[in-house]
Amino acid sequence: MPLPTDEKLLALSEDLIAQLQAIFGAYPGFRPAHAKGVMLTGTFTPAAGAAGVTKAPHVLRESTPVTVRFSDSTGLPLVPDNDPNANPRGMAVRFHLAERSHTDIVSHSTDGFPTRTGGEFLEFLRALASSDLTNIPASPFGAFLGSHPAALAFVQTPKPAPTSFGRESYFGVTAMEFTNAEGAVHFGRYRIVPEAGNEHLDDAATAAKSASYLMDEIAERVAAGPVAFKLMVQLEGVGDVVDDATIHWPESRAVVELGRIELTAMVPENAEAERHIIFDPIPRVEGIAPSDDPLLELRAAIYLISGRRRREAK
Ligand code: HEM
Repeated sequence: MPLPTDEKLLALSEDLIAQLQAIFGAYPGFRPAHAKGVMLTGTFTPAAGAAGVTKAPHVLRESTPVTVRFSDSTGLPLVPDNDPNANPRGMAVRFHLAERSHTDIVSHSTDGFPTRTGGEFLEFLRALASSDLTNIPASPFGAFLGSHPAALAFVQTPKPAPTSFGRESYFGVTAMEFTNAEGAVHFGRYRIVPEAGNEHLDDAATAAKSASYLMDEIAERVAAGPVAFKLMVQLEGVGDVVDDATIHWPESRAVVELGRIELTAMVPENAEAERHIIFDPIPRVEGIAPSDDPLLELRAAIYLISGRRRREAK
């Protein structure tokens, strides 16, 4: 996939990567965000009604191999799994359609994002980096939150630690445009829901966990049996805004099942696989197109720039 040529987009991408590295430190060979992760493999099997939503190949086929990367937040490769800043957790899914052909979903465990645009997210990060977090109200970050209600709402949304990567729900956040074989179009937002149910820890229980409890637990869980999720899509209703990650759609909106992700094994040589794989927030597949949400094109550029550097790092 080539990088976009839009100079402004590329400059903003570089600024965001640099700002994340200014906050967390630069760790060549690791991601500047969601640095600590673990990868598993398995299969996607479509649900009966899924073809009504999209004609995407993995939804029309009997089954498709998948690779998943779960991650902790932050650009710290050794962030303790029980650090409160390790939330939200990430889940990136790759559907292997053919040799060198794939489509991805990049999701995290909070339903929303603090800013509508990447430029605003840069302001958010810069304010954060220049603030005394023991006195937020008097800091630039406090001022940013005071003038950006969506960022305040995101920061205030509870983000409890899960007991397992397999007992957390993940949200695609940015809407996609789904087209079925009859040409019917629906905008929708992914939700990936664990079949075992959500299970979260309170602060004391989180503090009592080990720094690698999630990485250790998922290996034990998958050794004992498949780790399964339902891939759902929340469909837009009349009047819903489809290009703004900060705006929630009413919970009354229909949520349809696209299929089931069943993870069955750890990826061997995990560290090398993590370093190599570059997930793409834009689907680039028939039947699923990006919405006009400004985060999508920007993130696609950032993840590609960052991923290529990671692969080349000595
Ligand atoms: C302007 C907004 C955003 C910026 C600047 C940003 C930045 C980044 C960067 C630099 C990476 C590392 C990419 C790599 O080196 O491969 C990353 C990864 C990631 N981001 Fe974002 N991100 C943004 C929005 C989001 C949103 C909205 C979500 C959730 C839907 C999200 C979820 C993730 C996840 C799960 C990963 C890890 C992917 C993997 O496992 O490779 N990010 N982000």
